[in-house]
Amino acid sequence: MGRLDGKVAVITGGASGIGAATAELFIAEGASVVIGDMQAEVGEETAGRLGERCAFVPCDVTKEEQVAALVDEAVKRFGRLDVIFNNAGFGGAMGPVESISSEDYDITMDVLLKGVFYGMKHAAPVMKAQGSGSIISTASICGLTAGVGAHLYTAAKAAVISLTESVANELAEQAVRVNCICPGFIATPLFAGKPLGSAGQEAAQATLDKIRPKQENAQPMHRMGEPLDIAKAALFLASDDSEWITGHAMVVDGGFMTGKPWRKQASWLTEPHPIRLYRPEGR
Ligand SMILES: NC(=O)c1ccc[n+]([C@@H]2O[C@H](COP(=O)([O-])OP(=O)(O)OC[C@H]3O[C@@H](n4cnc5c(N)ncnc54)[C@H](O)[C@@H]3O)[C@@H](O)[C@H]2O)c1
Repeated sequence: MGRLDGKVAVITGGASGIGAATAELFIAEGASVVIGDMQAEVGEETAGRLGERCAFVPCDVTKEEQVAALVDEAVKRFGRLDVIFNNAGFGGAMGPVESISSEDYDITMDVLLKGVFYGMKHAAPVMKAQGSGSIISTASICGLTAGVGAHLYTAAKAAVISLTESVANELAEQAVRVNCICPGFIATPLFAGKPLGSAGQEAAQATLDKIRPKQENAQPMHRMGEPLDIAKAALFLASDDSEWITGHAMVVDGGFMTGKPWRKQASWLTEPHPIRLYRPEGR
């Protein structure tokens, strides 16, 4: 028996990386999945590989009518909507604050925040009517601390966490849960900084193979995150195992947010020391 038997899920950004690994795991656990993504060729290939319980619908999450159509397609094709994983994303505008144009600001926020908002907005009525559902979004550890990602990426991901908490409060009334995942560094084309498309997917693999040893050494748990690490967290949040969890930002980062790897910490921290007791004079 699968953990998602009979459930229907929509996954944005499901053609590649975290989204594709999640689609594969959800299907293995018994769900039917509709992938929405801008990359038509890669999306069709992913859906074709995953079989008849997986469909691909071209979707740009910055376009409200396309997100609405994605939700409609899931309901039309599979009869209900139990899960939406608002996961589509990109690196967005980079560089010093004064170098970021207004257009770059808009497109970054449109993909990373408005796309998530549209997913929540169009899944909510279907799930409310059902009296159940799980809305999951991909935030980032960048949404929890500055200095790890680009300015607007950091701000957008913090806003995804905040929107998750706020909408969770509303939809709890109808037993619809709203959570997000904060991944650390995950080996995907986005992390490798590669362009979209099939060629980008292949180039990403080569780059990831090259940077993996350095990345592993920077991680407390000695290995890079893989898309499956995030897919497993999404599976938990999608399944009934998390039925009393809502408004939660789940950090999945191999310990990155705990600080520098222990093996790189200063010796005063890592070596055993006797406690230096304070003894008031005369005692
Ligand atoms: N890889 C990491 O280290 C990491 C860390 C934290 C958070 N994340 C987040 O994880 C999510 C998935 O990224 P990934 O690492 O799997 O990268 P990825 O590039 O492999 O996948 C992202 C997918 O989103 C799609 N996409 C981008 N813009 C879109 C749009 N406007 N409409 C529809 N689809 C669009 C892309 O086509 C791609 O298939 C993103 O939200 C990203 O910000 C990634």
